[in-house]
Amino acid sequence: MFEKEGTAVKLPDTLLKFIEEWKDKPGNLIMILHQIQEEYGYIPREVAIELSRLIDTPLAKIYGVVTFYHFFKQKKPGKYMISVCMGTACYLKGGEDIILEFERLLGLPVNGITEDGLFSLQAVRCIGCCGLAPVITVNKEVFGKLTKDMLPGIIAKFKGN
Ligand code: FES
Repeated sequence: MFEKEGTAVKLPDTLLKFIEEWKDKPGNLIMILHQIQEEYGYIPREVAIELSRLIDTPLAKIYGVVTFYHFFKQKKPGKYMISVCMGTACYLKGGEDIILEFERLLGLPVNGITEDGLFSLQAVRCIGCCGLAPVITVNKEVFGKLTKDMLPGIIAKFKGN
């Protein structure tokens, strides 16, 4: 078992266990980075440094993987991640207008984060609810058959939480 004490950052036990399991397996770095992003929502630098120590891999190699795959985020996302589906069905039903309207309402570009850290905006591929196109998710909650005039209400709902 890895030592937790005396390290710069304390990783949760479940993550330490996962890292230990994958430490010597092929493709381990990507699997572990996925798990870290699942845990934190992004790859915090201090966790990457700790991972480098735990699996005895240079930090530069870890960041080589993180920057190569766009899936990995290096910045902490907003509390609420708005994901606008840009799959074919949603695109044809106005997904692009939805994303432009979110940009306008939140005052930020795609992949941006609002200054108060509350919202992030991203475009995603089909999320499997094409019958509800155009669709977005806010964290894990799905909103379908959207029109632009529904968006302020959705933002207000999460702002008030
Ligand atoms: S294309 Fe948007 S849910 Fe499938």
